[in-house]
Amino acid sequence: MSQLVDLNQEDELRRIDTIGMFAALDGLPGQCARACRELVEKVQLPEIKAISNIVVTGLGGSAIGGDLLRVYAAGQISVPITVNRDYVLPKFVGPDTLVFAVSYSGNTEETLSAYSEARNRGASVVAITTGGKLGEAAKKDSFPVIEIPGGISPRSATGYLFIPTLKVLNRLGLLSDVTEELDEMIDLIGNMRAKLGPAVMEAENPAKQIARKLQGRIPVIWGSAGTTEVVAQRWKGQINENAKSPAYWNVLPELNHNEIVGLEFPPEILKKIHIIILRDERDHPRVQKRIEITKEVIQNAVDGYTEVRATGSGVLARLYSLIYTGDFASVYLAALNGVDPGPVKVIDLLKKELQNR
Ligand code: PA5
Repeated sequence: MSQLVDLNQEDELRRIDTIGMFAALDGLPGQCARACRELVEKVQLPEIKAISNIVVTGLGGSAIGGDLLRVYAAGQISVPITVNRDYVLPKFVGPDTLVFAVSYSGNTEETLSAYSEARNRGASVVAITTGGKLGEAAKKDSFPVIEIPGGISPRSATGYLFIPTLKVLNRLGLLSDVTEELDEMIDLIGNMRAKLGPAVMEAENPAKQIARKLQGRIPVIWGSAGTTEVVAQRWKGQINENAKSPAYWNVLPELNHNEIVGLEFPPEILKKIHIIILRDERDHPRVQKRIEITKEVIQNAVDGYTEVRATGSGVLARLYSLIYTGDFASVYLAALNGVDPGPVKVIDLLKKELQNR
Protein backbone atom coordinates (compact mmCIF):
# COMPACT_ATOMS: atom_id res chain seq x y z
CA MET A 1 0.00 0.00 0.00
CA SER A 2 1.47 3.40 -0.92
CA GLN A 3 1.85 6.15 1.60
CA LEU A 4 3.16 9.69 1.21
CA VAL A 5 6.79 10.14 2.10
CA ASP A 6 8.47 13.49 2.70
CA LEU A 7 11.82 13.55 0.88
CA ASN A 8 13.20 15.86 3.56
CA GLN A 9 12.50 13.41 6.38
CA GLU A 10 15.40 10.97 6.47
CA ASP A 11 13.68 8.72 9.00
CA GLU A 12 10.66 8.37 6.69
CA LEU A 13 12.91 7.53 3.76
CA ARG A 14 14.67 4.86 5.77
CA ARG A 15 11.40 3.49 7.18
CA ILE A 16 10.04 2.49 3.78
CA ASP A 17 13.42 1.03 2.76
CA THR A 18 13.07 -2.37 4.44
CA ILE A 19 16.04 -4.17 2.89
CA GLY A 20 18.57 -1.35 3.03
CA MET A 21 18.84 0.15 -0.45
CA PHE A 22 20.17 3.39 1.08
CA ALA A 23 22.71 1.43 3.10
CA ALA A 24 23.82 -0.33 -0.09
CA LEU A 25 24.18 3.02 -1.89
CA ASP A 26 26.14 4.31 1.07
CA GLY A 27 28.37 1.25 0.81
CA LEU A 28 29.05 1.51 -2.93
CA PRO A 29 32.41 3.30 -2.68
CA GLY A 30 33.61 0.67 -0.16
CA GLN A 31 32.22 -2.11 -2.34
CA CYS A 32 34.14 -0.80 -5.36
CA ALA A 33 37.33 -0.50 -3.31
CA ARG A 34 36.96 -4.09 -2.17
CA ALA A 35 36.22 -5.30 -5.69
CA CYS A 36 39.29 -3.44 -6.92
CA ARG A 37 41.72 -4.67 -4.28
CA GLU A 38 40.56 -8.02 -2.91
CA LEU A 39 38.19 -10.17 -4.92
CA VAL A 40 40.25 -11.13 -7.95
CA GLU A 41 43.74 -11.20 -6.40
CA LYS A 42 43.19 -14.49 -4.61
CA VAL A 43 41.59 -16.24 -7.59
CA GLN A 44 43.80 -18.46 -9.66
CA LEU A 45 43.31 -17.84 -13.36
CA PRO A 46 44.34 -20.62 -15.70
CA GLU A 47 46.48 -19.80 -18.66
CA ILE A 48 43.97 -18.75 -21.25
CA LYS A 49 44.70 -19.42 -24.89
CA ALA A 50 44.33 -16.78 -27.57
CA ILE A 51 41.01 -15.02 -27.12
CA SER A 52 39.15 -13.74 -30.18
CA ASN A 53 36.03 -12.56 -28.43
CA ILE A 54 34.55 -11.97 -24.99
CA VAL A 55 30.99 -12.69 -23.88
CA VAL A 56 29.39 -11.61 -20.64
CA THR A 57 26.31 -13.69 -19.96
CA GLY A 58 23.80 -12.69 -17.28
CA LEU A 59 20.45 -11.05 -16.68
CA GLY A 60 19.15 -7.87 -15.09
CA GLY A 61 21.32 -6.51 -12.30
CA SER A 62 23.99 -9.08 -13.14
CA ALA A 63 24.11 -8.16 -16.84
CA ILE A 64 24.54 -4.40 -16.62
CA GLY A 65 28.18 -4.86 -15.59
CA GLY A 66 28.67 -6.52 -18.99
CA ASP A 67 27.42 -3.39 -20.73
CA LEU A 68 29.66 -1.25 -18.55
CA LEU A 69 32.57 -3.42 -19.63
CA ARG A 70 31.53 -3.30 -23.29
CA VAL A 71 31.28 0.50 -23.30
CA TYR A 72 34.34 1.07 -21.14
CA ALA A 73 36.62 -1.31 -23.02
CA ALA A 74 35.41 -0.65 -26.57
CA GLY A 75 38.20 1.83 -27.26
CA GLN A 76 40.85 -0.28 -25.58
CA ILE A 77 40.37 -3.94 -26.38
CA SER A 78 40.85 -5.21 -29.89
CA VAL A 79 38.41 -8.13 -29.57
CA PRO A 80 34.63 -7.69 -29.55
CA ILE A 81 32.68 -7.84 -26.29
CA THR A 82 29.10 -9.12 -26.46
CA VAL A 83 26.54 -9.06 -23.66
CA ASN A 84 24.27 -12.09 -23.75
CA ARG A 85 20.94 -12.01 -21.89
CA ASP A 86 19.61 -15.34 -23.02
CA TYR A 87 19.50 -19.09 -22.41
CA VAL A 88 21.60 -19.65 -25.52
CA LEU A 89 24.90 -18.23 -26.66
CA PRO A 90 25.67 -16.81 -30.10
CA LYS A 91 27.08 -19.31 -32.59
CA PHE A 92 30.52 -17.70 -32.61
CA VAL A 93 31.17 -18.78 -29.00
CA GLY A 94 33.80 -21.51 -28.97
CA PRO A 95 37.28 -22.38 -27.66
CA ASP A 96 38.59 -18.91 -28.49
CA THR A 97 35.90 -17.19 -26.38
CA LEU A 98 36.29 -15.90 -22.85
CA VAL A 99 32.89 -16.10 -21.15
CA PHE A 100 32.10 -14.28 -17.93
CA ALA A 101 29.07 -16.06 -16.43
CA VAL A 102 27.64 -13.54 -14.00
CA SER A 103 24.82 -14.20 -11.58
CA TYR A 104 24.53 -12.59 -8.17
CA SER A 105 22.38 -15.41 -6.78
CA GLY A 106 24.04 -18.05 -8.91
CA ASN A 107 20.62 -19.52 -9.60
CA THR A 108 19.28 -17.65 -12.63
CA GLU A 109 18.16 -20.30 -15.10
CA GLU A 110 19.07 -18.42 -18.28
CA THR A 111 22.62 -17.87 -16.98
CA LEU A 112 22.95 -21.50 -15.90
CA SER A 113 21.87 -22.61 -19.34
CA ALA A 114 24.29 -20.26 -21.11
CA TYR A 115 27.05 -21.38 -18.73
CA SER A 116 26.49 -25.02 -19.72
CA GLU A 117 26.62 -24.12 -23.40
CA ALA A 118 29.88 -22.21 -22.87
CA ARG A 119 31.42 -25.20 -21.11
CA ASN A 120 30.20 -27.65 -23.77
CA ARG A 121 31.67 -25.54 -26.54
CA GLY A 122 35.08 -25.43 -24.89
CA ALA A 123 35.07 -21.73 -24.01
CA SER A 124 37.20 -20.38 -21.17
CA VAL A 125 34.77 -19.45 -18.41
CA VAL A 126 35.10 -17.21 -15.37
CA ALA A 127 32.11 -17.23 -13.01
CA ILE A 128 31.23 -14.22 -10.89
CA THR A 129 28.68 -15.04 -8.21
CA THR A 130 27.85 -15.23 -4.52
CA GLY A 131 27.56 -19.00 -4.95
CA GLY A 132 24.41 -20.93 -5.84
CA LYS A 133 24.27 -23.49 -8.62
CA LEU A 134 26.60 -21.47 -10.84
CA GLY A 135 29.30 -21.38 -8.16
CA GLU A 136 28.92 -25.12 -7.61
CA ALA A 137 28.98 -26.02 -11.29
CA ALA A 138 31.95 -23.78 -12.12
CA LYS A 139 33.97 -25.23 -9.24
CA LYS A 140 33.09 -28.77 -10.31
CA ASP A 141 34.16 -27.94 -13.86
CA SER A 142 37.42 -26.38 -12.55
CA PHE A 143 36.67 -22.90 -13.84
CA PRO A 144 37.76 -19.92 -11.77
CA VAL A 145 35.02 -18.56 -9.51
CA ILE A 146 35.15 -14.99 -8.25
CA GLU A 147 33.11 -15.24 -5.08
CA ILE A 148 31.46 -11.98 -4.16
CA PRO A 149 29.74 -11.04 -0.91
CA GLY A 150 26.01 -11.72 -0.59
CA GLY A 151 23.34 -9.92 1.40
CA ILE A 152 22.43 -7.08 -0.96
CA SER A 153 20.32 -6.96 -4.10
CA PRO A 154 22.00 -7.76 -7.44
CA ARG A 155 21.38 -4.23 -8.69
CA SER A 156 23.16 -2.84 -5.63
CA ALA A 157 26.21 -4.93 -6.41
CA THR A 158 27.52 -3.41 -9.67
CA GLY A 159 30.93 -2.87 -8.06
CA TYR A 160 31.23 -6.57 -7.23
CA LEU A 161 29.76 -7.69 -10.53
CA PHE A 162 31.56 -5.34 -12.93
CA ILE A 163 34.98 -4.46 -11.50
CA PRO A 164 36.24 -8.08 -11.38
CA THR A 165 35.78 -8.30 -15.18
CA LEU A 166 38.21 -5.38 -15.55
CA LYS A 167 40.70 -6.95 -13.17
CA VAL A 168 40.54 -10.34 -14.89
CA LEU A 169 41.09 -8.79 -18.33
CA ASN A 170 44.02 -6.88 -16.91
CA ARG A 171 45.54 -10.03 -15.44
CA LEU A 172 45.11 -11.78 -18.77
CA GLY A 173 46.96 -8.96 -20.49
CA LEU A 174 43.94 -7.84 -22.49
CA LEU A 175 43.36 -4.53 -20.70
CA SER A 176 45.70 -2.01 -19.13
CA ASP A 177 45.73 -1.48 -15.36
CA VAL A 178 42.57 0.30 -14.22
CA THR A 179 43.51 0.83 -10.58
CA GLU A 180 44.16 4.56 -10.93
CA GLU A 181 40.92 5.10 -12.78
CA LEU A 182 39.04 3.07 -10.21
CA ASP A 183 40.60 5.08 -7.40
CA GLU A 184 39.39 8.29 -9.00
CA MET A 185 35.91 6.82 -9.41
CA ILE A 186 35.79 5.62 -5.80
CA ASP A 187 36.86 9.06 -4.52
CA LEU A 188 34.35 10.80 -6.74
CA ILE A 189 31.33 8.74 -5.68
CA GLY A 190 32.53 8.97 -2.07
CA ASN A 191 32.26 12.75 -2.37
CA MET A 192 28.96 12.56 -4.24
CA ARG A 193 27.46 10.44 -1.46
CA ALA A 194 27.62 13.41 0.89
CA LYS A 195 25.57 15.48 -1.58
CA LEU A 196 23.04 12.88 -2.74
CA GLY A 197 22.32 11.01 0.50
CA PRO A 198 18.98 10.91 2.33
CA ALA A 199 20.08 13.43 4.98
CA VAL A 200 20.53 16.19 2.37
CA MET A 201 17.47 18.39 1.87
CA GLU A 202 15.70 18.40 -1.48
CA ALA A 203 16.67 22.02 -2.15
CA GLU A 204 20.35 21.01 -2.16
CA ASN A 205 20.05 17.44 -3.38
CA PRO A 206 20.18 16.94 -7.18
CA ALA A 207 18.97 13.32 -6.96
CA LYS A 208 15.89 14.31 -4.96
CA GLN A 209 15.22 17.09 -7.47
CA ILE A 210 15.38 14.64 -10.37
CA ALA A 211 12.99 12.29 -8.58
CA ARG A 212 10.58 15.17 -8.09
CA LYS A 213 10.65 15.91 -11.82
CA LEU A 214 9.89 12.26 -12.58
CA GLN A 215 7.06 11.99 -10.05
CA GLY A 216 3.80 11.14 -11.85
CA ARG A 217 5.64 11.06 -15.17
CA ILE A 218 6.85 8.37 -17.55
CA PRO A 219 10.63 8.62 -17.50
CA VAL A 220 12.43 8.32 -20.84
CA ILE A 221 16.20 8.25 -20.56
CA TRP A 222 18.42 9.16 -23.47
CA GLY A 223 22.12 8.41 -23.58
CA SER A 224 24.70 8.63 -26.35
CA ALA A 225 26.31 5.78 -28.26
CA GLY A 226 29.66 4.71 -26.86
CA THR A 227 29.47 6.93 -23.79
CA THR A 228 26.30 7.21 -21.71
CA GLU A 229 24.21 4.52 -23.48
CA VAL A 230 24.86 2.03 -20.70
CA VAL A 231 23.87 4.59 -18.08
CA ALA A 232 20.54 5.21 -19.82
CA GLN A 233 19.87 1.49 -19.65
CA ARG A 234 20.90 1.42 -16.00
CA TRP A 235 18.61 4.33 -15.06
CA LYS A 236 15.71 2.60 -16.79
CA GLY A 237 16.28 -0.64 -14.87
CA GLN A 238 16.71 1.15 -11.56
CA ILE A 239 13.53 3.16 -12.01
CA ASN A 240 11.65 -0.05 -12.88
CA GLU A 241 12.98 -2.08 -9.98
CA ASN A 242 13.29 0.58 -7.28
CA ALA A 243 10.44 2.97 -8.06
CA LYS A 244 8.16 0.27 -9.55
CA SER A 245 7.50 2.62 -12.44
CA PRO A 246 7.76 2.17 -16.20
CA ALA A 247 10.76 3.79 -17.84
CA TYR A 248 12.24 3.63 -21.31
CA TRP A 249 15.64 4.36 -22.76
CA ASN A 250 17.19 5.07 -26.09
CA VAL A 251 20.44 6.27 -27.60
CA LEU A 252 21.60 9.14 -29.76
CA PRO A 253 22.23 9.43 -32.64
CA GLU A 254 19.91 6.49 -33.45
CA LEU A 255 16.85 8.07 -31.78
CA ASN A 256 17.22 11.05 -34.10
CA HIS A 257 16.26 8.67 -36.89
CA ASN A 258 13.02 7.31 -35.46
CA GLU A 259 11.94 8.01 -31.85
CA ILE A 260 12.08 11.74 -32.35
CA VAL A 261 9.39 11.47 -35.04
CA GLY A 262 7.06 9.61 -32.70
CA LEU A 263 6.40 12.47 -30.32
CA GLU A 264 3.09 13.67 -31.79
CA PHE A 265 0.44 11.18 -30.68
CA PRO A 266 -1.26 10.65 -28.33
CA PRO A 267 -0.56 14.14 -26.95
CA GLU A 268 -2.18 13.49 -23.57
CA ILE A 269 0.23 10.60 -22.93
CA LEU A 270 3.24 12.46 -24.34
CA LYS A 271 2.59 15.22 -21.82
CA LYS A 272 3.26 12.64 -19.11
CA ILE A 273 6.74 11.90 -20.47
CA HIS A 274 9.77 13.48 -18.84
CA ILE A 275 13.01 12.99 -20.73
CA ILE A 276 16.36 12.74 -19.01
CA ILE A 277 19.23 13.59 -21.34
CA LEU A 278 22.52 12.21 -20.08
CA ARG A 279 25.46 14.32 -21.17
CA ASP A 280 29.14 13.70 -21.29
CA GLU A 281 31.84 15.89 -22.75
CA ARG A 282 33.13 12.74 -24.45
CA ASP A 283 29.94 12.52 -26.54
CA HIS A 284 30.77 12.78 -30.23
CA PRO A 285 30.86 16.49 -31.21
CA ARG A 286 28.16 15.92 -33.82
CA VAL A 287 26.00 14.17 -31.22
CA GLN A 288 26.42 17.18 -28.94
CA LYS A 289 25.09 19.36 -31.74
CA ARG A 290 22.27 16.89 -32.31
CA ILE A 291 21.30 17.11 -28.64
CA GLU A 292 20.96 20.90 -28.88
CA ILE A 293 18.64 20.65 -31.89
CA THR A 294 16.75 17.73 -30.36
CA LYS A 295 15.99 19.79 -27.25
CA GLU A 296 14.31 22.42 -29.42
CA VAL A 297 12.27 19.71 -31.18
CA ILE A 298 10.99 18.04 -28.00
CA GLN A 299 10.36 20.96 -25.71
CA ASN A 300 6.68 21.37 -26.46
CA ALA A 301 5.95 17.74 -27.23
CA VAL A 302 6.56 16.27 -23.78
CA ASP A 303 6.24 17.35 -20.14
CA GLY A 304 9.84 18.53 -20.23
CA TYR A 305 13.43 17.40 -20.14
CA THR A 306 16.28 17.49 -17.67
CA GLU A 307 19.95 17.28 -18.56
CA VAL A 308 22.27 15.42 -16.23
CA ARG A 309 25.99 15.85 -16.80
CA ALA A 310 28.81 13.43 -16.04
CA THR A 311 31.60 14.64 -13.76
CA GLY A 312 35.12 13.39 -13.12
CA SER A 313 37.96 12.94 -15.54
CA GLY A 314 38.40 9.21 -16.22
CA VAL A 315 35.81 7.19 -18.11
CA LEU A 316 34.91 5.07 -15.08
CA ALA A 317 34.40 8.10 -12.87
CA ARG A 318 32.24 9.76 -15.50
CA LEU A 319 30.10 6.66 -15.97
CA TYR A 320 29.66 6.14 -12.24
CA SER A 321 28.93 9.80 -11.55
CA LEU A 322 25.80 9.37 -13.68
CA ILE A 323 24.98 5.90 -12.43
CA TYR A 324 25.20 6.97 -8.78
CA THR A 325 22.96 9.98 -9.38
CA GLY A 326 20.39 7.76 -11.12
CA ASP A 327 20.55 5.10 -8.42
CA PHE A 328 19.77 7.66 -5.72
CA ALA A 329 17.09 9.34 -7.85
CA SER A 330 15.32 6.01 -8.41
CA VAL A 331 15.18 5.31 -4.68
CA TYR A 332 13.79 8.81 -4.02
CA LEU A 333 11.24 8.22 -6.75
CA ALA A 334 10.23 5.04 -4.90
CA ALA A 335 9.69 7.21 -1.82
CA LEU A 336 7.57 9.67 -3.81
CA ASN A 337 5.58 6.71 -5.11
CA GLY A 338 5.21 5.52 -1.52
CA VAL A 339 6.76 2.14 -2.24
CA ASP A 340 9.54 0.13 -0.71
CA PRO A 341 12.48 0.37 -3.15
CA GLY A 342 14.01 -2.99 -2.26
CA PRO A 343 11.75 -5.98 -2.90
CA VAL A 344 11.15 -7.03 -6.49
CA LYS A 345 8.20 -9.33 -5.86
CA VAL A 346 7.30 -9.82 -9.51
CA ILE A 347 10.81 -11.04 -10.42
CA ASP A 348 10.70 -13.40 -7.43
CA LEU A 349 7.27 -14.66 -8.45
CA LEU A 350 8.39 -15.33 -12.01
CA LYS A 351 11.44 -17.25 -10.86
CA LYS A 352 9.35 -19.30 -8.43
CA GLU A 353 6.61 -20.07 -10.93
CA LEU A 354 9.17 -21.13 -13.53
CA GLN A 355 10.61 -23.68 -11.10
CA ASN A 356 7.30 -25.54 -11.19
CA ARG A 357 6.78 -25.54 -14.93
O1 PA5 B 1 17.77 -6.85 -9.87
C1 PA5 B 1 17.37 -8.02 -9.84
O2 PA5 B 1 17.05 -8.59 -8.79
C2 PA5 B 1 17.30 -8.79 -11.12
O3 PA5 B 1 17.44 -7.97 -12.23
C3 PA5 B 1 18.36 -9.91 -11.10
O4 PA5 B 1 19.64 -9.36 -11.20
C4 PA5 B 1 18.09 -10.88 -12.23
O5 PA5 B 1 16.83 -11.47 -12.04
C5 PA5 B 1 19.13 -11.97 -12.32
O6 PA5 B 1 19.36 -12.55 -11.07
P1 PA5 B 1 20.86 -12.78 -10.60
O7 PA5 B 1 21.45 -11.41 -10.57
O8 PA5 B 1 20.77 -13.40 -9.26
O9 PA5 B 1 21.46 -13.67 -11.63
